[in-house]
Amino acid sequence: MAGPNRLRRKRWEKRRKDRDMTKTVEEVFDIHTLQHIRRLEWKGIVWELKGVVSSGKEARVYWAKSKDGRDLAVKIYLSATAEFRHGIYKYIVGDPRFERVPKGNFRRLIYEWTRKEYRNLRRMHEAGVRVPRPIAFSGNVLVMEFLGEEGYRAPLLAEIIDELGEEKINRLYVDVVDNIEAIVCRAGLVHADLSEYNVMVWRGRAWIIDVSQAVEHNHPMAREFLERDLANITRFFSRYTDLDLRQRLEAVRKCLHE
Ligand SMILES: Nc1ncnc2c1ncn2[C@@H]1O[C@H](COP(=O)(O)OP(=O)(O)OP(=O)(O)O)[C@@H](O)[C@H]1O
Ligand SMILES: [Mg+2]
Repeated sequence: MAGPNRLRRKRWEKRRKDRDMTKTVEEVFDIHTLQHIRRLEWKGIVWELKGVVSSGKEARVYWAKSKDGRDLAVKIYLSATAEFRHGIYKYIVGDPRFERVPKGNFRRLIYEWTRKEYRNLRRMHEAGVRVPRPIAFSGNVLVMEFLGEEGYRAPLLAEIIDELGEEKINRLYVDVVDNIEAIVCRAGLVHADLSEYNVMVWRGRAWIIDVSQAVEHNHPMAREFLERDLANITRFFSRYTDLDLRQRLEAVRKCLHE
């Protein structure tokens, strides 16, 4: 039965072999991850994985291309190490989405975690928080807008601050606080891992990344997480500027307590 779908698939398989991504990709990923990457290719979302942008303990971020040549960031959660499972526990207690995951099923746990990151991104994006635009996800693979040019990612706030003058630093500080306000007061979330390492600076603006662990206001530790986020950001900026944004932060706190 050579239906149109099958023919299409065959042509696609052939074209896929011509590209070099398969070689690099097949060496590093397990079969399940490969299947999810394939599904995203087949759906026409990801065309080519170009190279690694960041290789962390739990996740790797790739620069990729869409079919129409646009840059994408593809974040792939690699494995559920014991530390990872332990580390995410406090963010998922009481979350009904995670109660559905059978104990010991680490792959499902990672899929749920990836889905959570996608949904948090979407919710923030819709609320006007400056985050990479979420595009799709499948299993442990998340596709979003790429922050950077030509495969070079934009710098993290921590990486670029020393190169900036006071005026730009002040503008970024206000920008980060505007984004925190949008996360808390408009998206109804708390980032819960905010620091100079999860803010990128691109086109002169602050971009919030790494939102998998963000929680809703009714999470038992939401308040504690928000205080930690605010402390990290104010501590960091106070090394570079005297700008006092305490009133703004107070307004953000009020949104959580309402
Ligand atoms: N949309 C994006 N565009 C470009 N680069 C990105 C994007 N998202 C993430 N990165 C890069 O990948 C790195 C890791 O991403 P992220 O912070 O989301 O993952 P992580 O789980 O914290 O990984 P790590 O443990 O390495 O910090 C970021 O520090 C940044 O350099
Ligand atoms: Mg990070």
